[in-house]
Amino acid sequence: MLLLSALLTFILHASKVRGLDNGLAITPQMGWNTYNHFGCDISETSILNTAKAMVANNLTKLGYEYVLIDDCWQAPARDPNTGAPVANSDKFPRGIKALADDVHALGMKVGQLHVTISFGWLTSRGDPSQKFGIYSNAGKLTCGSRFGSLGHEEIDAKTYAEWGVDYLKYDNCYNEGQAGTPKLSFDRFAAMSYALNATGRPILYSVCNWGEDGPWNFAPTIANSWRISGDIMDNFGRFDERCPCTSALDCKLPGFNCAMARIIDFAAPLGQKARQGAWNDLDMLEIGNGGMTYDEYVSHFTFWSILKSPLILGNDITNMSPETLEIITNKAIIDINQDPAASPATRRWKRSVPGGDLSLWSGSLVNYRFIFALLNTSPKSQTVDIDFTDVFVDQGTVYQHQPYALSDLWQKDASGNWGKPLGTFQGSLSKVVIGSHQTKIWMAVPAP
Ligand code: GAL
Repeated sequence: MLLLSALLTFILHASKVRGLDNGLAITPQMGWNTYNHFGCDISETSILNTAKAMVANNLTKLGYEYVLIDDCWQAPARDPNTGAPVANSDKFPRGIKALADDVHALGMKVGQLHVTISFGWLTSRGDPSQKFGIYSNAGKLTCGSRFGSLGHEEIDAKTYAEWGVDYLKYDNCYNEGQAGTPKLSFDRFAAMSYALNATGRPILYSVCNWGEDGPWNFAPTIANSWRISGDIMDNFGRFDERCPCTSALDCKLPGFNCAMARIIDFAAPLGQKARQGAWNDLDMLEIGNGGMTYDEYVSHFTFWSILKSPLILGNDITNMSPETLEIITNKAIIDINQDPAASPATRRWKRSVPGGDLSLWSGSLVNYRFIFALLNTSPKSQTVDIDFTDVFVDQGTVYQHQPYALSDLWQKDASGNWGKPLGTFQGSLSKVVIGSHQTKIWMAVPAP
């Protein structure tokens, strides 16, 4: 039975158009990364404790499979004889391979089933065990001023493969002026893509060039995902001069301290560029880091999911509040992110209200299911009528006028599962009250 379903998944995936043909990130990657919470203050112990906490909190079962080390793992210099990368021996006394082995073993130890079917480059997995990732930079130095990989792509990729690395986040600092045109950026990031492929080990390739030179146009054939903006800030909507652009298109200085709702704005036109194996990366999640309210983090998680961003947690997994755990484990929302249709939601309208705006988004899932969401970035509660001609604008008049069974995906049903049935609706959903900085999202299934 298992074998049959794995085979069917394989056939389904093999028939779809892909990005980088390494068989990875068929749906957006999920996991955890050190940077948003720990910055450079990382160690083997804190990473291993997090990996264990991911298993203990059932996060691996929900799909959060990658454990990712960000910047600052490096020794002061490469190996002077071989030129190979070396880890900081205070932070990683046993080296990176030993840590990768431990992380890999963890998933297996808890008795989870590992099924891998490989067919050339195409790999289909029913494997809930943990995977391990690392960070480097397409420049002379990393953003934290450790050694970068520019000009060292082959030896670095080879070393990562030997260490058992499954994922590389590849950054953009100190790039020696090799940016400013799509071709310059492409060549620099393609060099690592080819080096990773040449190792023969499937390594998910996550490009982090902050949207510079429009990676949604040049990265889909060389990377599994690409960042679209400067670094996220753990804040709902505050404008910060260090994130000066008003749109990701033609942004000349992506910067950092980009508030969460500003990144949603940046992402709005880019959904058309996402596809299986190739995703817009809205940056790592801030849920649980303390800078936003419950409603704001719900908005954050909902939009990262429906826009098909990788879902990479960035909080302290070993010390989470019940609210944080509740948000990041909402299976109805995760299922939208991981839906095989791979179709990001589209913004249908945006209307100014005092201090912010209201926006309506909708998208389709497999099996004739649809979702629509309402976001209120203003400081006051608002009452909104949602017209199904807007929700189903892509589907045409039959869909716009038929009845739908709706469920609210941030409420639970009688059995405690996310998605409370609201009844059948036709033509519109009227008088929706939406609080400040809140998102509401509904699943719509055609009703008889
Ligand atoms: C930034 C990157 C962040 C983080 C940081 C590490 O450029 O966007 O996500 O990786 O560097 O120094």
